[in-house]
Amino acid sequence: MGAMLEARGLNKGFGGIQAVNDASFEIEEGTITSLIGPNGAGKTTTFNLINNVIRADSGSVKFNGREITRKMPHKLTRLGIGRTFQVTRALDDMTLIENMVVGSSAQNLRGTFGSRMLDSETERALDLLEFVGIEKYAYSKAELLSYGQRKLLEFSAVLMSNPRLVMLDEPAGGVNPALLERMVDRIRRLNEQGITFFIVEHNMDLVMDLSDSVIVMAHGEVLTHGTPEEVQSDGRVLDAYLGMA
Ligand SMILES: Nc1ncnc2c1ncn2[C@@H]1O[C@H](COP(=O)(O)OP(=O)(O)O)[C@@H](O)[C@H]1O
Ligand SMILES: [Mg+2]
Repeated sequence: MGAMLEARGLNKGFGGIQAVNDASFEIEEGTITSLIGPNGAGKTTTFNLINNVIRADSGSVKFNGREITRKMPHKLTRLGIGRTFQVTRALDDMTLIENMVVGSSAQNLRGTFGSRMLDSETERALDLLEFVGIEKYAYSKAELLSYGQRKLLEFSAVLMSNPRLVMLDEPAGGVNPALLERMVDRIRRLNEQGITFFIVEHNMDLVMDLSDSVIVMAHGEVLTHGTPEEVQSDGRVLDAYLGMA
C-alpha cells in the first residue's frame, strides 16, 4: 500500500500564469497534512485539481492506489473524499439541517429509498451539528449564523458523506478563538478515529501545532514537504514568504 493520496506532476495554467507547476506530493493515511504557502501560491487550485473542480492540464491523482484524475466531484465523495470550500456557500434561506442534507451524497438516493432515507439523513445531520456544537440552530436559517458558526456548519456538512479524507480550505480564516478551538478539537478527535486531513491554512501557529506533515508551495511549485520542525527550519520557506511581501 502506498500513500492514501498521491499527486504526480500536476499542472494548471490560467492564461500566462502557471498556477500549479509540476506539483507532486503524497498524503499518508491517518495524518493531518497541511498545505501552506504565500497568497497565490496555488494551494486552492491544487485542491480544485484533486477534486476535479478544475481540470488539470496534465498530471495524475491517485486515491488509495486508484486513479481519480478527472473523476467527477460526486464520484470522489462516494470514494471517501470530502471537501469544504473557501467561500462560505451555506445557503442563507435554508435551515442548517436542509443545508446539510442538500449537500450530502445520500441525497441522490432519496428518489430510490423515499422518506426513510430522509429520516436517517436528518438524524445524521443532527448528530453532526451536535458534534460541532451548533445543534440549537438546526432548524434556524443559516443566515442567522456568525461567520465562525458557518465554518462549523460547512465542516459538519462535509462529514455527512463519511469521508476518509477531509480537505479543508482555510477552516480557521476569520473564526473567533473560541470557535476555532472547537474546530481544532473536532479535527483532532476525528483524526484519532482514523480520518485523514488535508488542510490549507494561513494560521501558522495552528498549522505547526496540528500537523503531522506540512507541504509548502510557492509560485505553483512544491517547495518542500516535511514535519513542522523540518519546514520551520528550512530557509527556503522563509524566503518564499518574504519574497511575496
Ligand atoms: N480561475 C482562475 N482564473 C485565473 N487565474 C486564477 C484562477 N484561479 C487562480 N488563479 C491564479 O492562480 C494563482 C494561484 O491561485 P490560488 O490557487 O488561488 O492560490 P492560493 O490558494 O495559494 O492563494 C494566482 O496567481 C491566482 O491569481
Ligand atoms: Mg486559496
